[in-house]
Amino acid sequence: EFMSEIAGLNVLEKQIKDKLHVKDIIIVPGNSDRYEWVKQEMGKACIAFLKKVIKANHTIAVTGGTTMAAVAEAMTPLTKEDSYLFVPARGGIGEKAENQANTIVAEMAKGAKGDYRLLYVPDPLSESAYQTIINEPTINETLNQIKGANVILHGIGDAFTMAERRKTPESIAKKLKENKAVSEAFGYYFNAMGSIVHKVRTVGIQLEDLASIDYVITIAGGESKGKAIASYFQQGKSDLLITDEAAAKQILRED
Ligand code: F6P
Repeated sequence: EFMSEIAGLNVLEKQIKDKLHVKDIIIVPGNSDRYEWVKQEMGKACIAFLKKVIKANHTIAVTGGTTMAAVAEAMTPLTKEDSYLFVPARGGIGEKAENQANTIVAEMAKGAKGDYRLLYVPDPLSESAYQTIINEPTINETLNQIKGANVILHGIGDAFTMAERRKTPESIAKKLKENKAVSEAFGYYFNAMGSIVHKVRTVGIQLEDLASIDYVITIAGGESKGKAIASYFQQGKSDLLITDEAAAKQILRED
């Protein structure tokens, strides 16, 4: 029965690859909406992949959220002696402390015995604060490290779940509704066609920066995220999707 389950996941992987046009995919069994350990399994799959591609002195940029926190929890040294650096991909974007990219990179570095940098910027930012902040020398140095990242690990969320979790102002929530936002990643909100309908202004990785990054690794699972994942993959760059069986089955139900 175990073997047929694995064969089933292989079929599912092929179907999702064709549907989302993603280069590489890993599907773990289960539904992370229901079981926390499924996030850990996605985390372990991510670490196994990193071990294959990571090189000495590489920089890994990471976003926030509970999935990334689970990756951090599962983190182990990636190579025997090489050093690498973990940086937050963008500013805080309204998450609880334990789910902020800053907290997550510190924990990843601890597990991987790597190094990390933090980014202390509030968000969303006003235009004038943005200009001042990006010109601060220490922040500017970190921003350059972020922009030079070799690998990015990022999550995807359901647009309205994320808007609520971030206590998004009423006017913006209304805009998201009117424009039929479906997914969120990197502080950008997308509709079902994958077009950007709103963007949280903050420093760090911008969507256009993804094109020059070697490995953009997307980690998102759970039946509740099926729609959101399908939306992000309409236009978003990703070299590898790590997801779970429940999200994959939901993606196949989307048209
Ligand atoms: O807020 C950071 C972030 O990575 C979002 O871009 C994404 O939508 C969300 O977290 C995913 O969070 P979770 O893994 O908890 O669903």
